[in-house]
Amino acid sequence: MIKYIGSKRVLVPHIVRAVSAFPASGRVLDLFSGTSRVARGLKQTGRYVIANDHLAYASTLARCYVQADADRWLDEATGLIADLSLIDPTPGYFTKAFCDDARYFKPKNGARVDAIREEIARRKLPVELEAIALVSLMEAADRVDSTTGVQMAYLKQWAARASNELALRVPAILPGPGEALHLDAVEAASRVEADIAYIDPPYNQHSYMGNYHVWESLVRWDKPETYGIANKRVQCKEYKSDFNSKRRIHQGLREVFEAVRCKHLLVSFNNEGHVDREEMIALLSERGHVGVVAVDFKRYVGAQIGIHNPSGEKVGRVSHLRNKEYFFVVSDRRDTVDSVVAAIESSIEIAALASRPSKRKRKGHESERRVE
Ligand SMILES: C[S@@+](CC[C@H](N)C(=O)[O-])C[C@H]1O[C@@H](n2cnc3c(N)ncnc32)[C@H](O)[C@@H]1O
Repeated sequence: MIKYIGSKRVLVPHIVRAVSAFPASGRVLDLFSGTSRVARGLKQTGRYVIANDHLAYASTLARCYVQADADRWLDEATGLIADLSLIDPTPGYFTKAFCDDARYFKPKNGARVDAIREEIARRKLPVELEAIALVSLMEAADRVDSTTGVQMAYLKQWAARASNELALRVPAILPGPGEALHLDAVEAASRVEADIAYIDPPYNQHSYMGNYHVWESLVRWDKPETYGIANKRVQCKEYKSDFNSKRRIHQGLREVFEAVRCKHLLVSFNNEGHVDREEMIALLSERGHVGVVAVDFKRYVGAQIGIHNPSGEKVGRVSHLRNKEYFFVVSDRRDTVDSVVAAIESSIEIAALASRPSKRKRKGHESERRVE
């Protein structure tokens, strides 16, 4: 899977345990699906998952990992990816924009991306098969990129992995049905009926379109005009999500919470976001009883790397390297909230014990059974 800011990679087991603790959880809506790691984790447990994201690359990831049924597509996808792997490199838009004008990839890999992407377009594949091929290409490119995991900038010195040969792999798709949507969250929330909505919106000003513009252009293949040193698609200038705006996020969340047609909600949010814990509890209280679990978490990659000047020299460290990820559990029944909170707590404790057997239990998280 691709490197992704805000990805819930390490939280997936806790989310799956939480969802399992709700009284009914056969149908789950993941409204802001990003990499689809969470949605895929839920599909793996046999649930019917509907994954939505407003960006094209993210909805393509959902079409691959949630909508595509491995029983139907795996054999064809394996053959297709073997064919695509043999295509000769031909430099084109991708090489010029992201290897020559900006240096996200070595030109030898850019030229392979160009040739493979053109062939995927030429074949006019069924949507699921096309999504599997595009995800295979996106993930292969991600393994040889030269960034810190966001496409706001590329590294001054090439990352060692950028010299590796681009190699396609068959994505780990799962058997069974599922659904991918490519809608604004409010629209998706009002269209879909499910038992549980998992809601993981952006929490600060950094736009996913800007952070992952290369994937958006690769998937759309609309070869847009670009601007600035990062060579972003021009669309990044005006395409903003309400959830990236300190001024608009409260209203954006209120609209989502009102629109969502699910009995139970599980909301992820970060303690460094535009909405603090008390404000989130107040917003969610309109929907029922609210419980909160906080998990200690490693901060985004930029914080780990430190502060650098324009010449790439390290000139400082950020004030802290860890933050908190909150789970807000919402239901019309207080006992349901209590049991889901308890399930998350025990999942975190089990994980902490497994990774650090000598450390004391309960380290690394706090929780409160708070009901509003
Ligand atoms: C925190 S990330 C989700 C991460 C995901 N749970 C994962 O583990 O990969 C937030 C996602 O919300 C999407 N998003 C932002 N604004 C949106 C909107 N208005 N409607 C739908 N999706 C939106 C972004 O594209 C981004 O992928």
